[in-house]
Amino acid sequence: MSVHSKYAYTSLANIASGPHARWRRILLIALLPMLCAFIYFTYESNALASSQDLFKHDVALSNGDTSMATVIKALYGPILHPIDAANFTDDEGQTYHLNGAPRFRKKLGRKVLVLDIDSRPLTKPGQLMDDELIWKDGEGIRALSAGMLSHYTYAMIHGYDYKFIRAPDYEDRWGTWVKVPVMREALKTHDYILFMDSDVMLHFPHLPLEWLLNYWNMTKETLVMMSLDPDEPQNYDSRGNRYLNTGFVIAQQSERTQEMFKVWAECPDEGRYLGCGKWKLEMFHEQAAFGNYIRYEFDRPEDIRVLPCVEANGAPEAENRGGCKGTFVRHYWVNKGLVPKALSDQVMQYFIPRLHQMYHKTAGHHIVDAKGFRLSGAEMIELTPEEKQALNNGEGKNQKDEGW
Ligand SMILES: *[C@@H]1O[C@H](CO)[C@@H](O)[C@H](O)[C@H]1NC(C)=O
Ligand SMILES: *[C@@H]1O[C@H](CO)[C@@H](O)[C@H](O)[C@H]1NC(C)=O
Repeated sequence: MSVHSKYAYTSLANIASGPHARWRRILLIALLPMLCAFIYFTYESNALASSQDLFKHDVALSNGDTSMATVIKALYGPILHPIDAANFTDDEGQTYHLNGAPRFRKKLGRKVLVLDIDSRPLTKPGQLMDDELIWKDGEGIRALSAGMLSHYTYAMIHGYDYKFIRAPDYEDRWGTWVKVPVMREALKTHDYILFMDSDVMLHFPHLPLEWLLNYWNMTKETLVMMSLDPDEPQNYDSRGNRYLNTGFVIAQQSERTQEMFKVWAECPDEGRYLGCGKWKLEMFHEQAAFGNYIRYEFDRPEDIRVLPCVEANGAPEAENRGGCKGTFVRHYWVNKGLVPKALSDQVMQYFIPRLHQMYHKTAGHHIVDAKGFRLSGAEMIELTPEEKQALNNGEGKNQKDEGW
């Protein structure tokens, strides 16, 4: 912990005065972060050679390696939250504690699959499969591309496997149904899958999935973890229970998990559940099938871990929707247009504190104190000791801090 403690979230808590203030600032510099990252780390690695302990949180990069994988490692590597940490403090200063001893103490690495699933071509301008993608104030990139790039980044940061599955369509079902059989397939090759809709992102990319599994208590018997939807009339099933949102799913491999996904995917065929057929095309499709049928069959206490909406659903912009502010998992159903901004947050919330720290660490080279001089016409004239004394009285009379 000690090496990392400067970058514990407590020290980042005061950076922004609110989401809107931060948004404006990020817009101003939206095109720069990745470019800056290259320059920053190129310079830094040179500086490292001469003064080893100037930057405490640097990582050694092999000479001339400016690959994107290295840039990501350099930005996040030194500030990763420990997998088995007893607590985590978020960017609002709130601390979350594990309830007991952590089950996961070692990296799961490629046993975890971060999964994107889509049956659409996504080749239009600003979409992920187009040849080029530019930022352009967050307007050049479409929201869903930003989400998927964020999932990819998360996998890179922590060494998880990542796959985008270009799924076939069902003949007679709404597109979102395809995620059920595809998740089932993925659970044949990986111990854990982290599936997110493209408008879902993890807000703290330096926080490993293993920590969240500890915090949310993924036991050996858990099949899936999903979050509640907001407490609103459309989100209730026929028995009066709130739906679980299928846009964010953590699942653990087991025979019972295979069985659950099989039964779920077959639900609308009505071999087992009369009435499920209507969810082929009606809202909320596979989510309604899960809510109305599957969860009542897979109802052992450990089968389905229900996550609180406040932690794993919604976004700060949706806090008035039953408090679902997306502490750990942001789901931008409130406004998909916010996804590119969330992607830039994933860089800037780490980049800015470190840039600022570098600014101060090297202050001796570039902050020049000229307060011992006075200005007279075009000249700067050094003050006498008496003048310096007098200066303290009238300081600041021709300046104003306007809060910018
Ligand atoms: C978090 O846990 C660490 C030890 O793992 C402890 O030193 C620290 O006091 C805890 N922080 C809070 C706010 O409980
Ligand atoms: C996890 O859940 C199990 C079963 O409900 C419980 O026995 C255990 O204490 C929980 N562990 C944590 C860390 O919450």
